[in-house]
Amino acid sequence: MNFRALLLAVVAAASLGGLTQASEEAEPPTAEVFHGERLFLETRFAQRFYDFVSRGGGINESLDKGDPKLEKTYRFFGLPPYQIPFAPGPFEGSSYNCRTCHLVDEHVGQKELGMRAYNDFASRSPLPERDDGQSVSVRNSPVLVGSLSPRDPFLLHLDGEFASTRELVIATLTGRNLGWLPDESALAARHACEIIREDDGTGELAGEFSGLAYSEVFSGVSASGEALPEEHRIATERRINVSESSCDEILVGIADLIGHYLDDLKFSAEADILSPYDLFLSINGLPARPDEDESDEDYSDRLLARIDSLDESGELRFVERNPATEDGGFRFHDQPYRFGEIELQGLRIFFNREPAPGRGAGNCGSCHAAPHFTDFGFHNIGVTQVEYEAIHGQGSFWKLLIPAVGPRNEQADVYLPATATHPDRRGMFRRLASESDPMATDLGAWNIFLNEDYPNAQEPLHRSFCQNGTGCKTADQALGRSVAAFKTPTLRDLGHSAPYMHNGQISDLHASVAFYIAASASSRNGTIRNADPELRKVEITPNDIQPLVSFLISLYEDYE
Ligand code: HEC
Ligand code: HEC
Repeated sequence: MNFRALLLAVVAAASLGGLTQASEEAEPPTAEVFHGERLFLETRFAQRFYDFVSRGGGINESLDKGDPKLEKTYRFFGLPPYQIPFAPGPFEGSSYNCRTCHLVDEHVGQKELGMRAYNDFASRSPLPERDDGQSVSVRNSPVLVGSLSPRDPFLLHLDGEFASTRELVIATLTGRNLGWLPDESALAARHACEIIREDDGTGELAGEFSGLAYSEVFSGVSASGEALPEEHRIATERRINVSESSCDEILVGIADLIGHYLDDLKFSAEADILSPYDLFLSINGLPARPDEDESDEDYSDRLLARIDSLDESGELRFVERNPATEDGGFRFHDQPYRFGEIELQGLRIFFNREPAPGRGAGNCGSCHAAPHFTDFGFHNIGVTQVEYEAIHGQGSFWKLLIPAVGPRNEQADVYLPATATHPDRRGMFRRLASESDPMATDLGAWNIFLNEDYPNAQEPLHRSFCQNGTGCKTADQALGRSVAAFKTPTLRDLGHSAPYMHNGQISDLHASVAFYIAASASSRNGTIRNADPELRKVEITPNDIQPLVSFLISLYEDYE
């Protein structure tokens, strides 16, 4: 197709109304999303603020001395990736909130930083300082846009720790990410409830959210007894009177508002911001999502077949510019906005499951199915092993004693992670690998599966590991399958979420794709411990890297 025809196609598609930027037509946020954002930004839930209050500070006063970890934004650096303080931190002078590790536009326009999709720039997030020896999180902070997409089974965190958003938010508010140690979670909960009950709406953050006290937010009624304006009034069934409610009810109230806020963060698959890939689907009349009863995998197969047939009949149209910007480019990425021959070649390799002469089979879609580019499932592709063996030597991961269910329970204090119920557990297998301790590593879902401290995660994890056709005959076999398995991340908008993998081990897309050449070969010759069976079917060569990377870049979008 020539350029003019292309332009006409783009304009025609645009006039169907699907191409406007979300920001132009954005509906005002609901009251839940509006207040949820404030709670996401609230810094007073942190242990450091509690410390200030216990030294005589007032709940509605400003913190005297901010968390030193927030003076800088950390950026990953080198391999293995260590983070270094890189730029002045946007939250300097305050204590931690959710946003400190789930950044968005704080560093837009800054070289080597820029936009984020609710994650940070470090390979592992710096944690508030406590004297427990943990200075960074065990895992890379993941993208939150699209993270709550409905699916079944529904699990959050890279190891499947939480079966609901509510559980995740309450545990985070009262957990290590906000500076609380495992045996302080009850104290943290009481502190959070005190903030909600005593807040008078005079703080700086409250000022940005119409100056309401949290008691007004949650009751829907102002202190003078009038109903709040509709845009600030949460739905009746969510309203609580915080001076009479139990602390548990207040925590659920907080978690649900934050949940509404997170639920509102959506990529192209569910919103109007279009990546070149989504525009390509749109101008070719290809379905953007599965039919009602179709699985994401079947949809991905159908999409590939439709694209092949359009191509054969010479009807396929390409994308060369962004209809939503004046210069036709991206707003927040340096790459050209395009979906052409090479992206198409990459798409084919990506979704192709059967290798054929001259056509690599990435089998990527088996785990990264469209439209979300993740199956939200758990797989071991060898990332933990690579990190471990880089420190302890080739073959060392196989020698690590990983106990079966019985011995693991007998020595739960060594192997399993600390929780509010068992605050003294050492969690050797949810740690950073370290030269000084050959037992320390991160076995992902293994920490959670068949662990009674996480009752709600069991049924969904069982389905993830045992109901993929093959079943599990024994508990030991089931647990064995979860060794070093992590939740598949989305591949949308990767330009805003480097470094990659659960440990931030890989710093760019070329290296991430190249990783699969080695990993799939190792899984075929049996050197990856508990490799996912689908990994073996990845058959790509170095020639496939560039097309695959170009395809991944076509999934970038101007998320804002
Ligand atoms: C100190 C950094 C830090 C802070 C503060 C923080 N997070 Fe996270 N967040 C992370 C890391 C790291 C992970 C990955 C954890 C894992 O998988 O083990 C994560 C994971 C998540 C996930 C799961 C995403 C998914 O796809 O599974 C959600 C949702 C989330 N955080 C929301 C929040 C909320 C809400 C808050 C505030 C209450 C918050 N985070 C505070 C670092 C942080
Ligand atoms: C067996 C399932 C599976 C297959 C097949 C697979 N992936 Fe992955 N992919 C994963 C999982 C799981 C992770 C995260 C692993 C971790 O962090 O330990 C991941 C991570 C990634 C990442 C890093 C994303 C991020 O945000 O950290 C990229 C890029 C990626 N995969 C691309 C591909 C490509 C390209 C292919 C095909 C060549 C492919 N994947 C095939 C499961 C799979």
